Amino acid sequence: MVSMKGNNMDQSVSNTYADSGFADAEREALYKTIFTRRDVRGQFTPDPVSEEALSRVLMAAHYAPSVGFMQPWNFVVVRAKETKQKVRDLFQTAHDEAANMFEEARRDTYHNLKLEGIMESPINICITCDRDRAGPVVIGRTHAPVMDVYSSVCAVQNLWLAARAEGLGLGWVSIFNHKHLKSILNLPDRVIPVAYVCLGHVSHFKDKPELQTAGWRRRLPLGDVVNFEGYDQGSDDPYAARLLAQIREDQEKIETQGYRGDFASDPSAF
Ligand SMILES: Cc1cc2nc3c(=O)[nH]c(=O)nc-3n(C[C@H](O)[C@H](O)[C@H](O)COP(=O)(O)O)c2cc1C
Repeated sequence: MVSMKGNNMDQSVSNTYADSGFADAEREALYKTIFTRRDVRGQFTPDPVSEEALSRVLMAAHYAPSVGFMQPWNFVVVRAKETKQKVRDLFQTAHDEAANMFEEARRDTYHNLKLEGIMESPINICITCDRDRAGPVVIGRTHAPVMDVYSSVCAVQNLWLAARAEGLGLGWVSIFNHKHLKSILNLPDRVIPVAYVCLGHVSHFKDKPELQTAGWRRRLPLGDVVNFEGYDQGSDDPYAARLLAQIREDQEKIETQGYRGDFASDPSAF
């Protein structure tokens, strides 16, 4: 199918690329999910997550890309209060240790941050990576062994976005001694706990990252981290200048107004 979408300034490029197959509203839904996703810690409600919804978000995770189609993940669904309590205790120990790692001036702020919702959320899920899932030699992992772990991270992101689209909050908790976490969840040696997430219905989704609101860190300007031809390099190319101007304009809108659907309604103008 021929598409004229986009604002391609390079006249030598053919216009015979495939249409996305998405209607504007469908594209809008994807961007909306991405820009309104939040890490949720303190807004969980006790309402149960239906099996239907959980099946859908797990399915979205399972259809993530993976190196050599390895699908190295397992999803350990945790609902028992006793198991959650053990994990919560593990968090508390690591959290106290972590506080001392920050410079003194930031310790109080760190302590006041809520960084998990393990007990409050009805469902916890550990997403793992089985490094032996597809034998010792895996297409794409031959020169970069960490690619299997990256694949499991892709599954986590799919799960996170699907949850947001379902109206479910998800919070990633990583402040643990991972060896002890493995023992609580009976993970074999070869299996890495890539992510431990809390999932559930929420009272509301915050507009901005909590760490931003708390003054911990600000969102970086995208233009500062888009480089050309080499790390940290700018460019004299007019294409680069136009791209950076567009990026500034787009991010300014998102930061001041929040995402309002403009990406989808008029992709070439936004
Ligand atoms: C790998 C990873 C580990 C994280 N670990 C934690 C964590 O232990 N506790 C926590 O509160 N948030 C954790 N987060 C969430 C981040 O703090 C959050 O994504 C970031 O502040 C931006 O906020 P947002 O997700 O709401 O946009 C983690 C996120 C990632 C990607």
